[in-house]
Amino acid sequence: MRTRRILQISLWVAALVWLATFGVLQFGLLPKPQQSSPLAVTTGVAQIGGPFRLESHKGEVVTDQTLKGRPSAIFFGFTHCPEVCPTTLFDLTGLLQELGPDAEKITPVLITVDPERDTKSVLAEYMQSFDPRILALTGSPADVDAAAKAFKVFYRKVPADKGSYTMDHSAVVYLMDREGRFAGSLDKHEPKEAQLRKLKALIENSSPT
Ligand code: NI
Repeated sequence: MRTRRILQISLWVAALVWLATFGVLQFGLLPKPQQSSPLAVTTGVAQIGGPFRLESHKGEVVTDQTLKGRPSAIFFGFTHCPEVCPTTLFDLTGLLQELGPDAEKITPVLITVDPERDTKSVLAEYMQSFDPRILALTGSPADVDAAAKAFKVFYRKVPADKGSYTMDHSAVVYLMDREGRFAGSLDKHEPKEAQLRKLKALIENSSPT
């Protein structure tokens, strides 16, 4: 009887531990509420950004560490995207032009969520339509997944016509400061002026002191 009771208690403890762990994980994955200030310090549980290692369409290894020292604007997308990604890249291209010389002080980055099709050469071809300063990154599916997870980016394959597929994905441009810390985001629904202000503030607040 006694062993049975102990077994029962152990099962309950195990269940509670499991629930606690799972609950914490769930909580940790909750999206962060929108910050009103573009450069607000993150206080939420969900940290945006983290370690990743990918390769650019120019053939360089790009990691969270190599991006440090300059602020960056990071966006996840894919070249087969019919609308949102090319629009975002065109908008970014326009914003970089508006920034003038200040555009040199920021690293704009596209990370593919479709590494299967978006090889370095496919990205290199695709990026010819946009500002040459934008880096397009790809890697193994596992490396891309690690990057997406670090940025709490959602993406998933969706079957399309004739055995083809498209991707569902979050379309936020993350603004990261020179230390690689989350510093806000650009929303495609915002006016261009608001986005430009955020980029200028990011560059200004990221200047070495
Ligand atoms: Ni897209």
